Amino acid sequence: MKRVILVGATDGLGKALAEVYAARGFWVTILGRSREKLDALVADLGSRFPVATVKGVVCDLSDRARLEPAFREALAVTGHCDLFLYNAGVMHHGDGVTSEPERDAEMMDVNAVAAVRLLGLAANWFRVAGRGQIAGISSIAGDRGRKGNPAYNASKAALTTFLEGLRNRLAPFGVTVSTVKPGYVGTRLTAGKSGLFWVVPPADAARIIADRLEKGHEVFYVYGRWALFGLAMRLVPRFLFKRLGPP
Ligand SMILES: NC(=O)c1ccc[n+]([C@@H]2O[C@H](COP(=O)([O-])OP(=O)(O)OC[C@H]3O[C@@H](n4cnc5c(N)ncnc54)[C@H](OP(=O)(O)O)[C@@H]3O)[C@@H](O)[C@H]2O)c1
Repeated sequence: MKRVILVGATDGLGKALAEVYAARGFWVTILGRSREKLDALVADLGSRFPVATVKGVVCDLSDRARLEPAFREALAVTGHCDLFLYNAGVMHHGDGVTSEPERDAEMMDVNAVAAVRLLGLAANWFRVAGRGQIAGISSIAGDRGRKGNPAYNASKAALTTFLEGLRNRLAPFGVTVSTVKPGYVGTRLTAGKSGLFWVVPPADAARIIADRLEKGHEVFYVYGRWALFGLAMRLVPRFLFKRLGPP
């Protein structure tokens, strides 16, 4: 039985990923901040997919002191690990022009700092194991700094670059590191936002991501067509992006 540890998977895309892996008969250990949400998800997946084993570990990713103990607990509960997947993310919507330092810092803490800590612990563990896979849900939003939400963009750029470095570091040890860059996913993170297009339902995104991770793909967008959009966005000269760049 393959074993996956999913970080931040009690809602949205992460919850859909937990369901996909449970349906495929994995051992699934979920890190989440809400005991109630974890218990409900573990009970639900356990009853619908008896072939799977589903466990929950409480961890608020904003609580730095809790990260390493939670990582150790998740490993102990899981026994061993084939895939460590960091999905958690926060995106606060502001008015698009005012920086909000507290909320910006929370995005950096959850999307980048906690990710660096947990993925770093996982990297050390997999290096010694000499096999396995690490993955992070980054975003096309990390491809460029946009005026609408600079801190969210920066948090995802940090995650993308960190994962690239880990990939290069761990390649000689037989460990695969994958970066997932979704466009828009139909979750509460995007709820109420206007002007969205190519929105992928979370269940479809989860299936695409699990399939591509299983094939060992290192960097991919969901849907794939976002890769072209990302390329075009990166090619727009700075002076033009400043004026016309997407929010
Ligand atoms: N939706 C999109 O369009 C989109 C696009 C590109 C990338 N992404 C990325 O995809 C990932 C999943 O996003 P989503 O759309 O599924 O968002 P979501 O529905 O808001 O789910 C976010 C998940 O992160 C968890 N989380 C947030 N802060 C946490 C904390 N302090 N401690 C523990 N868990 C925490 C949430 O836990 P709770 O259940 O306790 O709230 C939830 O399970 C994120 O990394 C996001 O940046 C999303």
